[in-house]
Amino acid sequence: MSSPILDVKSVAKAFGGNQVLQDVSFSIQPGEIVGLLGPNGSGKSTLLNTITGFEAIDAGQVLLQGRAIGRLPAHRIVAAGVGRTFQLPAMPKKMSVIEVAMAAATTQHGFWATLLGSPASKAAETAAREKATALLDELLLTPVRDLPAAALSGGQKKLLGIVCALMGEPRLLMLDEPTAGVHPNLRNDIVAALKRLNRQGMTLVIVEHDMHFIREVCSRCIVLDRGHIVASCKPAELASNERVLQAYLGGGAAHTVKQKEAA
Ligand SMILES: Nc1ncnc2c1ncn2[C@@H]1O[C@H](COP(=O)(O)OP(=O)(O)OP(=O)(O)O)[C@@H](O)[C@H]1O
Ligand SMILES: [Mg+2]
Repeated sequence: MSSPILDVKSVAKAFGGNQVLQDVSFSIQPGEIVGLLGPNGSGKSTLLNTITGFEAIDAGQVLLQGRAIGRLPAHRIVAAGVGRTFQLPAMPKKMSVIEVAMAAATTQHGFWATLLGSPASKAAETAAREKATALLDELLLTPVRDLPAAALSGGQKKLLGIVCALMGEPRLLMLDEPTAGVHPNLRNDIVAALKRLNRQGMTLVIVEHDMHFIREVCSRCIVLDRGHIVASCKPAELASNERVLQAYLGGGAAHTVKQKEAA
């Protein structure tokens, strides 16, 4: 087995007295598409936030290809090659869709330098515009590219979030419920786009509740329950995993299901 692209070691995170993540450890191999599952409130978004520098970790380590990134600020983690999307993307009111996409070209600084009047940045701005144009097209946002980003529908904001993450050309892309609230046609386009990115070498970690999506896209699943990892298995093995059943149904309910199956 090759060395992991991402190594999460004993990560812990609490908000006040609420211990949201405890002793969370797992590895992601290059080229994998891993689903991150768990009931509402189990800590999935918090885990993404800690890995990508949006929340400070209390304990543990996060390594990207062996390099410690667990205490870097978010923009340096992006620069190191980790992209992410948000469960509920917030968009600025006064920027158009294409401007938001261009502003995410963090490696080039072209858009911001142009705003600040630096003539040397023209080539970088052109490159960012070309890349944003192509990605908006790929994710079907060309018809709305000049609208205010805040005016997009919930599903379109999700798509723009993916465009923004891709503008940083990540090696590892972490998506928080990318298809929630997205029309089934668009969902299929997202599935196709993610598979294509993976074929091109991108590693993906995807928080999802939709089991069809998980079965269609993911080669492995990691399951969180109340801040602990309780399973790492293939999608087809989820339904027969006792700890996964307990996480989703509760101890008593899982027991009842077993009894009914036995009767
Ligand atoms: N910034 C915060 N401040 C305080 N508590 C927080 C914060 N962020 C998350 N939490 C708490 O952490 C717990 C886990 O939340 P999180 O959003 O990570 O769950 P989740 O698994 O993503 O759930 P869902 O499937 O509903 O999105 C919840 O109890 C939540 O209230
Ligand atoms: Mg969440």
